[in-house]
Amino acid sequence: AAVEQLASKVQGLSLDSVKQTYPGTFPKINPLDLWRAHISNVLHGISGVSTDIIYRAIQWTQGLDKGDFTLAVPALRVKGQKPDVLAAEWGAKWPEDDPLVSKPVTNAHFMSFFIRAEPLRNTIIPIIQQQGSEYGRARFNGLKDPNDPSKGQKRIIVEFSSPNVAKPFHAGHLRSTIIGGFLANLHESAGWDVIRINYLGDWGKQYGLLALAFKMYGDEEELKKDPINHLFKLYVRINSEMEEEKKGFEAKKAEGIDVTELEANSLDEQARGYFKMMTEGDESALAQWRRFRDLSIIRYKETYGRLNIHFDEYSGESQVSEEAMEKTAKIMEERKISHEDQGAVLIDFTTLVPGKEGKRLGKTVLRKKDGTALYLTRDVSELLHRRDKYKFDKMLYVVASQQELHLRQLFKITELMGNEATAKLCQHISFGLVLGMSTRRGTVKFLNDILRDVGEHMHEVMKKNEEKYAQVADPEATADILGISSVMVQDLTGKIINNYTFNMDAMTSFEGDTGPYLQYAHARLCSIYRRANISDEDLAKADLSLLTEDHATNIIRLLAQWPDVFQNTLKTLEPTTVLTYLFRMTHVVSSSYDHLKVVGSEPELMKARMALYNSARIVLSNGMRLLGLTPLERL
Ligand code: ARG
Repeated sequence: AAVEQLASKVQGLSLDSVKQTYPGTFPKINPLDLWRAHISNVLHGISGVSTDIIYRAIQWTQGLDKGDFTLAVPALRVKGQKPDVLAAEWGAKWPEDDPLVSKPVTNAHFMSFFIRAEPLRNTIIPIIQQQGSEYGRARFNGLKDPNDPSKGQKRIIVEFSSPNVAKPFHAGHLRSTIIGGFLANLHESAGWDVIRINYLGDWGKQYGLLALAFKMYGDEEELKKDPINHLFKLYVRINSEMEEEKKGFEAKKAEGIDVTELEANSLDEQARGYFKMMTEGDESALAQWRRFRDLSIIRYKETYGRLNIHFDEYSGESQVSEEAMEKTAKIMEERKISHEDQGAVLIDFTTLVPGKEGKRLGKTVLRKKDGTALYLTRDVSELLHRRDKYKFDKMLYVVASQQELHLRQLFKITELMGNEATAKLCQHISFGLVLGMSTRRGTVKFLNDILRDVGEHMHEVMKKNEEKYAQVADPEATADILGISSVMVQDLTGKIINNYTFNMDAMTSFEGDTGPYLQYAHARLCSIYRRANISDEDLAKADLSLLTEDHATNIIRLLAQWPDVFQNTLKTLEPTTVLTYLFRMTHVVSSSYDHLKVVGSEPELMKARMALYNSARIVLSNGMRLLGLTPLERL
């Protein structure tokens, strides 16, 4: 309603006409679209340049002091005149009494536009308060037809986390979990039908070995109490025993002793035998393995829950059927993608794909001499299976950069097998390493340990401020959430392809651009809301014309950007796009408190300012939830 009102007041700016002239704009969801349309209309009238060229040239600025939008005149490609002359000329012709923007500021060939405060606050604050958690979500993005929800949603698969059963949940899995959770939220918020898949490492000879270890040293009680740690301990133990055994054989061989018989009965051989039973569908062997898997998943789920993450499907290497792999192998053979070499099946991309690309893809083994299919073959079959099962429009693999070559090979094979269209829908979301991830207890192995350590650290940080600490209702739970926020924000701060160093002290600080800082900013806004004690109905009726200060205007200008930030994040797929914005916004809000007091002001002024801060609270909460954080109301 606020947008319609505004549009109706400006000549030639009805919502219908805007949607017609500027396809792909959604003024009701993103009011800044209206401003861009208006600027394009006016400049078209002055310059004669077509509206869509102008619209596309309108850019964001580096900071509020540079305006709300900027336009580089050379981008309009007007022939015959110097851009700076044009900029000055058009600026001078801009109507003095333009209702939406003030006369543009021109500097060389740039034109900067400042939105007028009054129409902006009258639009943005009501919209934010009405739309609440919906504000900013570009739900049209995930629709098959952006203008017609009845045509249905597009479907995206986000594969992420994907740890290996009985092995450490290392930093790579942590990052995949956090980044994948964010990307899934992002697409869900943007109207996509999101399928979250966890592709577990849960198949191979090592799980035969694990079953042996359990037979020898397993403890039923321990397994039920703490499957993750128990299985890991068994796995470590049996592996070192196997190493010892191998060394023993070598030593004996060196002495000239025949070990053939011993080797035939080695742990390695027994594991191979056990795994063979599993692959052949032996029910008792499978039942044991399934128990390990299921118990581990129960624990994973608990931990994921703390991060606000769930999966629609626990898939995994074990779930890829032998038949599917045989089918895949056959196609690869028929299409001469793969070839046999001394009993093994190989792919040589250097001969299949011309030039540099082929060189980069190199050569790889699909199936070993002993017939065991490898990681890559499973991935190819799984990909095609997902296509048939889900008919996705897009699929993201959130996997560490170390596996970049693997994923390139995967997509290339898919393409060479005649599935170009499907291959094009797949994208590797590649991220860098976490360096130096160790805690007081030594190198961390499991997600739970990381979260517990950071939570405890956070608890100590909180205790340092005794007065505040005494006021927190449930300090341990709060410390836990703050700890999780610390880890997540540090992880999501830079571009994801960059490595970063795990730094407990930096991430848990309330100062600087950290998780605790964002939580503090949110809790403070909530506290103002509680203390002001004004009903949402009254806030909706607040007299916004009282928000005259620059501080108020600047907050509103930033809040108006949130839908743009959201849409831009869908392009960058970078969490830092959201975080950078949230920090910029919260900094401006923090510095306004001394100037815009709520409690203690006149009742009407109090209402208006509360409506402003309430809007900031909503946007901050929306941004935090998008990242996967749980915004705290009290600290
Ligand atoms: N489980 C693998 C690992 O820990 C990651 C799986 C990545 N996804 C895939 N489709 N290959 O290295």
